[in-house]
Amino acid sequence: MPITYHEKERIFKIDTQRTSYIIGLADRPGYAGHVYYGARVQDAALAHLMRIHEPPYVPSQNAREKLSFMDSFPMELPAHGLGDFRGDALRVRTEGGHTALELKYVSHEITAKKEALPGLPATFGKDAQTLKILTEDALCGVQAELSYSIFADSDAVMRSLRIINCGREPVWIEKICSASFDMDDQGYELLTLHGGWAKERHISRSPVTFGFQGVSSYRGESSHQHQPFLALLGKGADQEHGEVYGLHLVYSGNFSASVYKGQYEQLRIMLGIGEEDFCWKLEPGEAFQAPEAVLVYSAEGLGRMSRTYHDLYRNHLIRSACQKKPRPVLINNWEATYFDFDEKKLYAIAKQASKAGIEMLVMDDGWFGARSSDNCALGDWYVNERKLKGGLKKLVDRVNALGMKFGIWFEPEMVSPDSDLYRAHPDWAIAIPGREAGLCRCQYVLDLSRKEIRDYVFESITRILDSANIEYVKWDMNRQLADLGSLGLPADRQGELSHRYMLAVYELQERLLKRYPKLLLENCSGGGARFDPGMLYYSPQIWCSDDTDAIERLMIQEGTALIYPLSAMGAHVSDCPNHTVGRVTPFETRGYVALAGTFGYELDITKIPAQDREMIPKQVAMYHRYHKLVAEGDYYRIASYAENHIYDCYMTVKKDRSEALLTYIQVMMQPNGHSRKICLKGLDPDKRYRVKRFCMDSGKEVSYGPKQAFYGDTLMKAGLLAETLWGDFRGVLLHITEA
Ligand code: DGJ
Repeated sequence: MPITYHEKERIFKIDTQRTSYIIGLADRPGYAGHVYYGARVQDAALAHLMRIHEPPYVPSQNAREKLSFMDSFPMELPAHGLGDFRGDALRVRTEGGHTALELKYVSHEITAKKEALPGLPATFGKDAQTLKILTEDALCGVQAELSYSIFADSDAVMRSLRIINCGREPVWIEKICSASFDMDDQGYELLTLHGGWAKERHISRSPVTFGFQGVSSYRGESSHQHQPFLALLGKGADQEHGEVYGLHLVYSGNFSASVYKGQYEQLRIMLGIGEEDFCWKLEPGEAFQAPEAVLVYSAEGLGRMSRTYHDLYRNHLIRSACQKKPRPVLINNWEATYFDFDEKKLYAIAKQASKAGIEMLVMDDGWFGARSSDNCALGDWYVNERKLKGGLKKLVDRVNALGMKFGIWFEPEMVSPDSDLYRAHPDWAIAIPGREAGLCRCQYVLDLSRKEIRDYVFESITRILDSANIEYVKWDMNRQLADLGSLGLPADRQGELSHRYMLAVYELQERLLKRYPKLLLENCSGGGARFDPGMLYYSPQIWCSDDTDAIERLMIQEGTALIYPLSAMGAHVSDCPNHTVGRVTPFETRGYVALAGTFGYELDITKIPAQDREMIPKQVAMYHRYHKLVAEGDYYRIASYAENHIYDCYMTVKKDRSEALLTYIQVMMQPNGHSRKICLKGLDPDKRYRVKRFCMDSGKEVSYGPKQAFYGDTLMKAGLLAETLWGDFRGVLLHITEA
């Protein structure tokens, strides 16, 4: 049994194939303490690791030093106010204004299932087990239910928390983490993903020092700037070696991820909804569900952590009907035309694209209301028939007649001040009464916490989707939340707005998918500001970044692939000079880099150089040939351009290890150099493989290096030689197949 309760020792043991997570009950049985998380161990009787037999001892034996106990005990859910000064995972205010909670064990249950979390995205699937530990504060009647789930085919541990008000008065949750645990520091490093617009999810590593460190977002979205994720890396951890603890929040709004190193060189790791601006009122009898946190421990470096997240998300989080199907190669008109298009331009793009084998046209921003720039018309979701003469259906039918699917862009959460919607309902925007709300990209955010506004948004989308054969929606969101105020909430519930807003977005996407179960939904937020596991639950792919430059993308995609499956990364080939950085890279290389994601085009195919246009059918064929391997394979990072500043290299390996694809991008040419030795990864040491290069000119595979087959161990240890390519920004795709 992977989850067991050892009554005599008062120990809960959660075992996955490679890991153990152990919780103990201390002080008859009292507090739930964190005993151990790491590589799988055989023993359960490990309560001594909570140090309850060392001074200051549990309060029943040494009440005199209760605060010292509270401040050193490895609390599984540290609550505020009783002497634990290392950071709270839970803070609840009572009507009397007090904020201290003493949570003690009440009961537990172990079930053979993984439940859905009401209103929230979460992992799902069969062959699961869940442990729930119910704790309670006897004075105010607040209960905290800690939940831990595992799936038979994964090493991840899913944690979440539910707060139930069993008291007689309302309480206010001021802070709530979904996961928290304490452990001794062993010289860990902190890894986070940071960035900004057009430079999302770059990897940052720093030593863990005393005090608090961490990342957060208070922008109402998971954000360009930070990812709801942190990892602790043991000494010397790299792609294959060393300990790694990853924590990732299945949530798309404000979050906080932190580590605290205290006086005894112990660490407390916490992850949950961001506490600033958050305050949730719970009436007697009501419950609050916190989002799910996904914990992954790897004793085999970052690579194993990445692959564990990839498999978990592919098998247990992305529930779209499109997940296991090849995604259509799309062409999006954003970088091709921006707002300057009509049905003629779009049709011309589609016609040329269909000849090149592209399978879907996506009409981006600018098709509705009076939208001719980003200054107006958000909210007016009716087709601009001056732009699309003959209407949407006519265009879609014509595109379909070319053998192509049709997709459309929406930004449903927003309203422009210059729009019919805003003129009719100025009170629908999030704002503080009496204070002029700040604009961002000249738009306000609709107060989706109000049902009538959600209904308007839903009906606006469905009216369009029902009017033509639309098979894909790009759901965009181009600003952060500020000036938080809702006319739908009383004063003591204004602190609920950010979270209610996220619940509303989830509800809308849920409704949409229920009504159009086959719809391919791609989430987007000014590029990749909402690239998070919450969005992945609804959309199998997310637009990675507005930066489509192949070289910038190497770093963005490396950080993204650290925790997300490649099948989720929206990646397109765009025109040069690149619209974000002005860089000129070979069309071929742009194709290799976009192949690491969902693959598509973001350019005016009627205007690009003829030699680029001629390459498109070959790139599309390349995508069809290798996409399954990329989307479903195991991902191995071999070299990082972000680290070495010269070249990038990664592989995907088929699960049965019969086949692999290696991408090698020489970013900077070095003069007077030799070929570079590359040690492959993930192959079967005892299988023999042949290495071939994909030749873009012929669309065929040609031999690369010696023609003979080599054992996997040879290719992984002795390596192969990657020849020097002429010039900067050059790439090679190697197909490694079992001989
Ligand atoms: C931001 C997105 O990331 C772009 O791809 C594009 O859809 C624009 N918004 C349109 O406004």
